[in-house]
Amino acid sequence: MEIITTTKKMCDWAQAQRASGKTVALVPTMGYFHDGHLCLMRQAGKLADLVVVSLFVNPIQFGPAEDLARYPHNLERDRVLAEGCGVAILFAPTVAEIYPEPPLTRITVPSLGGRLCGLSRPGHFDGVCTVVAKLFNIVWPTAAIFGSKDFQQLAVIRRMTVDLNMAVEIVAHPIVREPDGLAMSSRNSYLSSSERVTATCLYRALGRARELVAVGETEVARVLAEIEKIISVHDGVCIDYTAIVDAANLEPQLQVGVDSLLALAVRVGGTRLIDNAMLMEKSG
Ligand code: PAJ
Repeated sequence: MEIITTTKKMCDWAQAQRASGKTVALVPTMGYFHDGHLCLMRQAGKLADLVVVSLFVNPIQFGPAEDLARYPHNLERDRVLAEGCGVAILFAPTVAEIYPEPPLTRITVPSLGGRLCGLSRPGHFDGVCTVVAKLFNIVWPTAAIFGSKDFQQLAVIRRMTVDLNMAVEIVAHPIVREPDGLAMSSRNSYLSSSERVTATCLYRALGRARELVAVGETEVARVLAEIEKIISVHDGVCIDYTAIVDAANLEPQLQVGVDSLLALAVRVGGTRLIDNAMLMEKSG
């Protein structure tokens, strides 16, 4: 595996692969890999001849009060893990390489990006779309893999590629979880040991909601009230939002249906965690 740190070298490599008829799958990440990232890399290997993983902590998707400065990183550890997944190129540019000047252009998907996480993280999805579009232009992938843990990010990126005729197939990977159900996240490393135990309340809440729906509950307000009890019983926990939306367009629903997705964002101590599950599908 090669580490590339400049956009020029990355573009040259991508052009050479295209010219020789090789397909490339891209896994965009911010690094500090966990099994969720590694599963995406392995899936990417099944979709194309070569896998590129980008590792870039994108400053323009962080708000001023967010964790940009302390976002966890360990390039050597990430290098070994990516190599073990058969990755061809780890693209790890500096901020100056990606943004030689502050970007004047932003990509916005307003109605999808402005709700749910977009309400407490204004501009976040503009930052995500802008960097992902840049990565697509640099790496020229035929496919790109995103995790459904960040289901809103996935929806926004899918829409961006359709609206802008980007020739990249967007592939979703299911949520990868710890044995006790907590969705894997680089940010889990911020949790103290007691917060780590508390953090399982998100998964328990999703499970309870699915149980209620399985026995016939269809009233969204009643499902949300029940799961908010499960979460707020813990000290030091603050609900950012609980929402049941149509998975296709993220529109809020009043009644649970086959397309219903329950989405949660909860602060456990100083750490903001998100999780989601379809309410009627067999596996959450
Ligand atoms: P990051 O949080 O590093 O996540 C990189 C990819 O891994 C995303 O597609 C995310 O959805 C996926 N992922 C993270 N945890 C997962 C889990 N437990 N199960 C399955 N997939 C998981 O998301 C970003 O970086 C950035 O916003 C990025 C897209 C790279 C743009 O900067």
